[in-house]
Amino acid sequence: MHDQWTESSLPDNNIGLRNLLEYIHKSRGIDFTLYRFSTFRRRLELRLAETSTHNYREYLEYLRSHPDEIDIFIQAVTIKLSNFFRDPLVYEFLYSYVLPEMLTGNHFLNIWSVGCARGEEPYSLAIMIHDLRKLTKKSCDVKILGTDIDPEALKQAMKGEYCEDDLFEVKKKYLDTYFTRTQNSGRTHTTALFRISDEIKSMVTFERADIINSGKLRDTLSNNYQLILCRNVLIYVNRNFQEKVQSNLSEMISENGYLVTGETETLAGSLRDFFIQTFPEKKIFKKKPLGAGR
Ligand SMILES: C[S@@+](CC[C@H](N)C(=O)[O-])C[C@H]1O[C@@H](n2cnc3c(N)ncnc32)[C@H](O)[C@@H]1O
Repeated sequence: MHDQWTESSLPDNNIGLRNLLEYIHKSRGIDFTLYRFSTFRRRLELRLAETSTHNYREYLEYLRSHPDEIDIFIQAVTIKLSNFFRDPLVYEFLYSYVLPEMLTGNHFLNIWSVGCARGEEPYSLAIMIHDLRKLTKKSCDVKILGTDIDPEALKQAMKGEYCEDDLFEVKKKYLDTYFTRTQNSGRTHTTALFRISDEIKSMVTFERADIINSGKLRDTLSNNYQLILCRNVLIYVNRNFQEKVQSNLSEMISENGYLVTGETETLAGSLRDFFIQTFPEKKIFKKKPLGAGR
């Protein structure tokens, strides 16, 4: 099978688990054997407990007889942790250097947020770009694509409603300009909800896409992104696979375009000759023009 599996790999001798993941792969095309087992084991076991199944074999039987459970499984084992302007310094660099440069040099911007969870990342970018366009009076068209593997997360992204906890990094001027406060009445208490403005919503489209199939995505999506953010997604997959995905993404970035990874991720060694790390302390990589220094 996959010889790149490490200590966080699937246990070789667990036939029940392998059959379960194979079934999910066949049904939904998502290959969880490429994920680090340690990142989803606890969540999978919780799912077993919640479905009153006692082992992977029983859970597979449950999946076969409850087709809705596959989406619940995907939702449960993928980690959706995100918030608006997550890691604010990255956004400061994007706002102060990267986006102004891109708005000046292009009439059209193509941006992709890979593993966009509930839309926090692509909407944060849309807010900053909207603000910058107003300030600089640049009339650049912008298309931001947010993709994720989890259909439920995407549904929420399209809805564009967030609670206060998701917005703690949002500056007050952005909160006042780009969100409307509404109420969410639950059974026990009422919480504040913030709805993103239609103007910001219209800058972002969402699509379900599995980054594991990045080779295929390379053939179907644009090959001319000026900016791709792939943050806190590849930490969950095996190292060899991270490199493969990054390599596919890098081919989809235009010359002088940017790739942003998460704080604890970095650019694969084989790609370092093709990018410069523009801000040493942040994981923002600029693609060199063809032929430059390679
Ligand atoms: C921890 S969140 C990161 C969200 C955002 N990029 C950020 O940094 O705040 C990881 C996201 O990646 C998504 N994801 C996991 N595996 C994926 C895959 N194979 N293809 C696309 N998205 C995936 C998860 O559903 C989740 O929404």
